[in-house]
Amino acid sequence: MSPGSVWTAERALFFFTQYFMSPSSLSNSAKPLPNTLHIAIIMDGNGRWATARGLPRSAGHRQGAEAVRQVVEAAPTLGVHTLTLYAFSSDNWNRPPREVGALMRLFRAYLRSESARLAERGVRLSVIGRRDRLTLPLRVEIERAERRTAGGPVLHLRLAIDYSARDALVRAATALTTRAPLSPHARARARDSLTREEFARLLAAAYAADAGAVGHASAAPDVDLMIRTGGEHRLSDFLLWECAYAELYFTDRMWPEFTAASLAAAVTEFHHRVRRFGALPAAVAAG
Ligand code: FPP
Repeated sequence: MSPGSVWTAERALFFFTQYFMSPSSLSNSAKPLPNTLHIAIIMDGNGRWATARGLPRSAGHRQGAEAVRQVVEAAPTLGVHTLTLYAFSSDNWNRPPREVGALMRLFRAYLRSESARLAERGVRLSVIGRRDRLTLPLRVEIERAERRTAGGPVLHLRLAIDYSARDALVRAATALTTRAPLSPHARARARDSLTREEFARLLAAAYAADAGAVGHASAAPDVDLMIRTGGEHRLSDFLLWECAYAELYFTDRMWPEFTAASLAAAVTEFHHRVRRFGALPAAVAAG
């Protein structure tokens, strides 16, 4: 569970009006959970899914966007308050320009078509990652979507675009050295007193200069559950600091086939894991 994630009256009221007073939504038997989980997903397998069907890779990405819609809708009903999706890594620029272009257009289309719906459902959207290499129309669409959804109390959806965890760590460390006080004594004192929480805040602000003014500097909670689809078993430079104690869940299912039920299965497995954070289980410690 992540500190700072609370089931506020505001959120409860939002859920009540959205889900229990809306005929097209959850059945009355589905009680909202106090949302505490941060789930991160590496959405892998779009290309293979498409190739296996004789389709261009871009068709796999388009189908992947449908899976994103499903998962975003399901997440709040499964106790998730933060959902971070790896949409484009900084190393993905090494893909053929045609595929990169198709992905960038897809991100823009998603933001344009979804932001009103996200706002209605109380989903706050942020994009993490570098912005200076994105096209101006995409940057404009990102800022518009962030403004439109700001303050959504139900789910914080973070899309990682041109994101690299190592780059974010280097930026945070650089911010640390440049903010150091001038006197050597004060600098040493600041170095000794730096806490993990302070560093996490610097890390969260790593891309803030790229992101403009819309609420990017609050520290992201640690990841509770990291999911990777597509049968690969690695982290690929995603949220390396935030995943220090994340439970890892790998599935062979390709991302376009990942559904709300797949997310529910991952969350169920997560709840069966025993998280010790380096300590011993209470029974062993007592005996
Ligand atoms: C990795 O799978 C996936 C990506 C690099 C892109 C992820 C993008 C989406 C899921 C599109 C929709 C996203 C949003 C936010 C609208 P891959 O294509 O490298 O798969 P492969 O290993 O089978 O080639």
